[in-house]
Amino acid sequence: MNRVFSGIQPTGNLHLGNYLGALRNWVAMQDGTGGHPAYECIYSIVDLHAITMPHDAGGLANATRSMAAGILAAGVDPARTILFAQSAVAVHAELAWVLMSIARTGWLDRMIQFKEKRGKDAEGPSVGLYVYPVLQAADILGYRASHVPVGDDQKQHLELARDIAIKFNATYGEGLLVPPLPVIGGAEGVGVARIMSLRDGTAKMSKSDPSDASRIDLTDTAEAIVAKIKRAKSDADVLPDTAAGLADRPEARNLVGIYAALAGTSVDAVLAEFGGKGFGAFKPALADLTVAKLAPINAEYVRLIADPGHLDAVLRDGAARARAIAEPVLAQVYEAVGFLR
Ligand code: TYM
Repeated sequence: MNRVFSGIQPTGNLHLGNYLGALRNWVAMQDGTGGHPAYECIYSIVDLHAITMPHDAGGLANATRSMAAGILAAGVDPARTILFAQSAVAVHAELAWVLMSIARTGWLDRMIQFKEKRGKDAEGPSVGLYVYPVLQAADILGYRASHVPVGDDQKQHLELARDIAIKFNATYGEGLLVPPLPVIGGAEGVGVARIMSLRDGTAKMSKSDPSDASRIDLTDTAEAIVAKIKRAKSDADVLPDTAAGLADRPEARNLVGIYAALAGTSVDAVLAEFGGKGFGAFKPALADLTVAKLAPINAEYVRLIADPGHLDAVLRDGAARARAIAEPVLAQVYEAVGFLR
């Protein structure tokens, strides 16, 4: 079976890393472009995950709507694809509970993102943050999804989801759950595994980076995009002629990678054009390309966000369709573990 599931947290704005790392593939897998066959796609705004860190309760509903508008603006078509808020489908939390008795604490102790996010709070991180990857596994396994398009940073969580599915099946019956495959990066020009911060080529572009100049948001104005690229960290060398020449130049590699992904071409093709030129020539070209590619998404976002009623209706409809798939899976899981039905 070929079914896609993926999720995004409604924290902060959609940025270029989300777009090139995940969303582009979400759309390509829906459309059957970029070397992918067309899949049945299910995408969720994972608000249950968002509360595992301190969050703004008053702003969460609007953040969820805003994320929905961004996802639709990027090309997700709610007529073909299911888009919903995670908390609207109870199966996610219910299945996560069952899977918590499958996952081992040793598996969770190894999770890199937990270690990065746990902070130095004396009382420690929330229990939710610790079991976060089990909920993520439930998201995917509850739909028996075969493929999960994500950025490189989610690779370990996807391996955990596979391990949980395999152990669940070994315990309760082969074929009950489907170990999913990650789809990271993708065909040339569709996605890139990891977009780095504009201020530091060794840190990933992230919603939680306090510096706004570190990322390009899909809602940024053309002026803001131009200014951020102009200020982006680079180096004093000219660009090399081939990708191999970028090996020890993280900032240069990131900027050329962004150009290639946005232009739908390879890094070598970009360097065939810009090799031997400095950032004084490359940055304006990158800024023009970024503005040109993001402007239609931005305009569509502005149109969609003005109609919250429509966004809520899309998410409600998506939740009903999601429940119709996930509830029978949960029923089989409950039966397999022996609950009185
Ligand atoms: P989140 O909300 O942090 O990010 C959403 C997607 O964007 C990708 N991404 C990036 N890709 C490349 N470069 C970057 N700098 C970059 N930053 C973010 C992420 O890899 C992700 O694909 N745990 C997940 C959400 C989640 C999920 C799921 C994903 C919950 N349940 C089930 C897949 C399947 C997360 O926090 O993504």
